[in-house]
Amino acid sequence: MTVHLTINGIEIEAEEKKTILEVARENGIYIPTLCYHSHLRPMASCRLCVVDIEGTAVPKAACTTKISEGMKIHTNSGRVRKMRQQAMELILMHHPLDCPVCDKGGECDLQDLSYEMGIHEQPFRAKRPEFEIQPFCTPLIRQWPERCVVCLRCVSVCKEVVGNAAISLKGTGYGAIITPVAPEMCNSCGECLSVCPVGALTEAVSPVRGRVWQIQRTRTTCGQCGVGCQMEISTYDNLPINVKTDDVLEEPPNKGTLCVRGRFFYDYPVSDDRLTQPKIRKGEEWVSVDWDSAYEDAINHLRETLKDQGPESIGMIVSSRLLNEDLLALVSFARRGLKTPHVDGSYRLDLAPQLDILKAVTGGLNPASLEALKASQVVIVAGGDLDLNAQVVANRIRMAKRDVRNKVVVVNTFKTRLDKIADASLTCHVGTETPVFYGLIREALSDQEGLQKAEGWEDLSKQIEDYTAEAVCEAAHIDPAQFKKAVTLIKGKGEEAISFVVGTDLGRSPEGLQTLKALANLALACRAAGKTIHWIPLTAYANAWGTVMAQEMVPGDDPGLRYGEMIRAIHEGKIRALIVVEEDPLLSLPHSVYVEEALRKLDYLMVVDLFESKTAKMAHLLMPSVSFMEKEGSFINMEGTLKTVSRLMEPIGEAREVARIFRELAGKMKLEWEDPGRVTELYEPWRRRTVEPLKGFYHVAYQPTRAEENSHLFLIPAEFLSNHHYGTDGQHVKAIGMLGNTPEYYMNPEDATRMGIGDGDPVILSTPEGDLTVTPILSEEVNEGHLILRSHYRETGVQGLFPFVLDEETGTPVTGVVRVKLKKS
Ligand code: FES
Repeated sequence: MTVHLTINGIEIEAEEKKTILEVARENGIYIPTLCYHSHLRPMASCRLCVVDIEGTAVPKAACTTKISEGMKIHTNSGRVRKMRQQAMELILMHHPLDCPVCDKGGECDLQDLSYEMGIHEQPFRAKRPEFEIQPFCTPLIRQWPERCVVCLRCVSVCKEVVGNAAISLKGTGYGAIITPVAPEMCNSCGECLSVCPVGALTEAVSPVRGRVWQIQRTRTTCGQCGVGCQMEISTYDNLPINVKTDDVLEEPPNKGTLCVRGRFFYDYPVSDDRLTQPKIRKGEEWVSVDWDSAYEDAINHLRETLKDQGPESIGMIVSSRLLNEDLLALVSFARRGLKTPHVDGSYRLDLAPQLDILKAVTGGLNPASLEALKASQVVIVAGGDLDLNAQVVANRIRMAKRDVRNKVVVVNTFKTRLDKIADASLTCHVGTETPVFYGLIREALSDQEGLQKAEGWEDLSKQIEDYTAEAVCEAAHIDPAQFKKAVTLIKGKGEEAISFVVGTDLGRSPEGLQTLKALANLALACRAAGKTIHWIPLTAYANAWGTVMAQEMVPGDDPGLRYGEMIRAIHEGKIRALIVVEEDPLLSLPHSVYVEEALRKLDYLMVVDLFESKTAKMAHLLMPSVSFMEKEGSFINMEGTLKTVSRLMEPIGEAREVARIFRELAGKMKLEWEDPGRVTELYEPWRRRTVEPLKGFYHVAYQPTRAEENSHLFLIPAEFLSNHHYGTDGQHVKAIGMLGNTPEYYMNPEDATRMGIGDGDPVILSTPEGDLTVTPILSEEVNEGHLILRSHYRETGVQGLFPFVLDEETGTPVTGVVRVKLKKS
């Protein structure tokens, strides 16, 4: 409903339920604020936003007072100016005047407001009680309690957006202090740092500081994962020194929120470990060479392989973190230049299992945007811990739930942070997601006329008929009350919108594609029953979609071998030379021994990378490439949207852009080179491509996962893919070294007792592929039969425990779960 009001005599029409502050801002009317933040619930702690309302005895806080019909508001009366001045003087009463040395100097809200209000002196001084200071939750942030204005933004963001409540206000009056209350919950995302209006929380990562007028801030897209967060990276003398989102607060998809990787992993481009010059292997030694010599080495070996073994004996594996411009150049080089069909990317590990399903569900490449979360009455999250893999998506889910009070259903094999806000938490046994999805169709939707009349219902009704609530809860080990809640929410009143947030873990599990098809059937059944569905597939790599676009817009006659299949083909002697670009098969693929043996069999291994990765260490030729901060172009994020990447620093050493390296190589090799065209010209036609949506439903051949034996558990790596960003040794990113976390393994105490394992006992995990010694932590939260690995970006070595299994349809390596035998070390 619309209401009519005046602000400073200006007549305004606005939607009911808005606050005075919101309406004033929408109409360009300034009201000072300090504690207010557009992404948080108003706390009304500073009293700077007071306004006069005619007919009201005392001024009211504009950030919390709702507008009403006929309201006459004055934002700048003498009375409110005086009140604001007094409020400021009280805030400043014990605020140290250390602006010259404070990191926030020049961009501090308190400094700006003092200046604006003309406060030249502090009329009151009060000595603040001595604080009993505890270390802050994370070493990445330094707390300065004496500068705190107790606005509570940090407390609110941690609770409302991050879902942690790691910090809280302790004490009262001038003795009040923000204190870590659950530091173990802190995931170092720095959201508290980002909303602090003063210098009470400052960043402790970069050794270099720069005043706002000394630095350059460049807007770009984060290259860490597939969300495509918008951010500004500050540089000082060619060094990235911090990441901010203050000026991109309303930009999708992240709306100002970031995860630990986005906010703090910005220094890897200037790591001492960067490759700065090409290198050629001579025996056991590397010899640094110039670019001409590197090109010559590549040309000689590639020509020799082409001549002796033919184009099909060359394979190329590329990273899905590369820019669209790089990927198009690479796919063109392989398919049109070398004429080999074998080029594939690391999107094979995250997005590939989802591709056909997305096309079938949406009739094209139409992932929904994160804006759909707020427009949905129910959000179903399946396949992994979003707070580990894509925290910004988890943040957006929490924000949507807070704002529109929608309902969240979580389906996963272990408890996640989102389970805390879930209205139905379906923590199921490994491999039982399909019965859960089918049980939900049977119990929530099978009586709906629309579904019963849908094409394919006859087959689907047979597929789901055995999955009664009792049968599902027993098979999946889930709480019947939680299942019942999920059924009620999905059934709803009929025409709700439901978002399906699909994590990357589902597709990596054994039978991953079948599980995804079962989830797609749930979505399609919802649609047939009259609901609107939004399908939101997560991508782990920054440009998984860009790799798909490059593959589809530079097609070959033959689809060629996929990522993992190339490793098999090396073993079979079919591939003799391999080009690997910013990808590390030894880290990404299962069964490291098998992969390493394959790489050793190659006649020629050429690696282009920023660092000497595990795979790079085995190369014959190593060429240095640049990070996303040293080049410009674009990514396509998980929503399928083109996102601009800006150059914000000069390349380090002699490192070159991947697209340039391969164009120059093609030129020097005199390869036939057809430019695929500009990204902006290719993107729209590609995005608009439609396909025939699936008729009816998928037929899913469900196979229960083999039950665990007495001394076996199912090892589930919760963060397998998030480790693949710029190496995991902790050497390239200072923040990882500061966090100092080691991989953590969690198991249920019942399993531990059954196996005679005590808390803190080291155990050997073994599979036919390898052994690994770990020390599990006992936790009731973990399902019996499961061993959950959380690795905090550290290398774990679990790749060595997995057999080399690829999904036959999608070629995706199975890295979601493996049966391990435990014995005491
Ligand atoms: Fe309204 Fe602080 S901004 S009370």
